[in-house]
Amino acid sequence: MTPPFSDFASLASLHRELEERFLQHQDALLDSDVALAAERLDGYEAALRRHLEAEEALLLPVFSRAGRIRGASPELFTGEHQRLLEFLARFRAELRALEPESAGFKRAVLRLLDAETTFKHLSHHHELREETYFFPALDSVTDEAERRELLAAFTARVAP
Ligand SMILES: [Fe+2]
Ligand SMILES: [Fe+2]
Repeated sequence: MTPPFSDFASLASLHRELEERFLQHQDALLDSDVALAAERLDGYEAALRRHLEAEEALLLPVFSRAGRIRGASPELFTGEHQRLLEFLARFRAELRALEPESAGFKRAVLRLLDAETTFKHLSHHHELREETYFFPALDSVTDEAERRELLAAFTARVAP
């Protein structure tokens, strides 16, 4: 398979795809389609997990060559990955508890959407940090051959 990416900076488009998947989960929630919202959240979580794991396994070790960058330490990235997954576990449980026929359904949906807004902010900051520091640094510490090889491995790992 030919990797569609020629540099790490282009990986930002994968962040936009993940954001879109999360919005599709929220669309279903707004339609009160709990089953579809849960199915889409599961799909999003699986895709996010592949993304985070591929970053940690393939990219962070190479990133360490760039030395310490303020606001972009590997521990910061892995800590945020952990927090993102913790949020999703909570959303999964809250979705399962939603009962569309119950009197408190709309308020429960609003509570979940509020918590999901906090998640979206964290996710946005995380992605921005990667797009500002992580991906450009990876482009500068790799030569073309290594870049091509790493991007191919990354793409293969994040594909469903
Ligand atoms: Fe990340
Ligand atoms: Fe990322």
